[in-house]
Amino acid sequence: MTAGWFITFEGGEGSGKSTQAKRLADRLTAAGHDVTVTREPGGSPFAERLRAIILDPNLEKHSPLAEALLFASARADHLEQVIRPALAAGHVVICDRFSDSTRVYQGYAGRVEPRLLEALELIIVQQTKPDLTIVVDIPAEIGLARAALRLNAPAAQAPSERTAKQPRSLLADRFESRGLDFHKKLREGFLEIARLEPQRCVIVDGQRSPDDVAREVWAAVESRLFTEAR
Ligand code: TYD
Repeated sequence: MTAGWFITFEGGEGSGKSTQAKRLADRLTAAGHDVTVTREPGGSPFAERLRAIILDPNLEKHSPLAEALLFASARADHLEQVIRPALAAGHVVICDRFSDSTRVYQGYAGRVEPRLLEALELIIVQQTKPDLTIVVDIPAEIGLARAALRLNAPAAQAPSERTAKQPRSLLADRFESRGLDFHKKLREGFLEIARLEPQRCVIVDGQRSPDDVAREVWAAVESRLFTEAR
């Protein structure tokens, strides 16, 4: 068992989860917690290098399995270098995407054998499973429209969001550019995980205002984590 709390945010494109991850971090920090905010793919220097490769739209077509192994490699380093040390130091670790994204993007909606992904998750994540996963749910059409807006009008983004992310162009042709059916499948996949693991996952409706979503996220954190004795 770890000393801190591990919270992950998951969801499809344009769900607003990155904004919510940041807002939660700010609120926890204001409440006196030590907070580490991180993301996947990436989060450690080595994993960020892998991220640039994984999301590079200019790379020629490559095998989904090879790509899944890169996600796994990035995660192994991120866990070892950042997540486990922060948890051991008592931090609340907030991670923007984690292993549910692999299950959904590479497994449920992708073409990699789910049993292989399960085995990788067991080996890599081990005991460092999220204490709480917030699934920010949004219809695929709306999420894609939001993501397209973000791509086409970066100046309209909140500055905090701009600085927290890689250039959006890195991503546009890798996952965001997949068709509507792919994105509908992503949504189904995240909802399915939340249904199967209700003790870990909370679904919040990402269509409401950012303030409303943030309130619901906070309520989940308070009721699921801070009332539990450790
Ligand atoms: P990111 O810029 O973080 O996008 P988002 O704002 O949607 O989180 O890019 C991460 C992309 O990588 C995103 O399209 C989801 C995908 N991904 C996977 O396919 N598998 C994974 O295991 C992870 C962590 C991300």
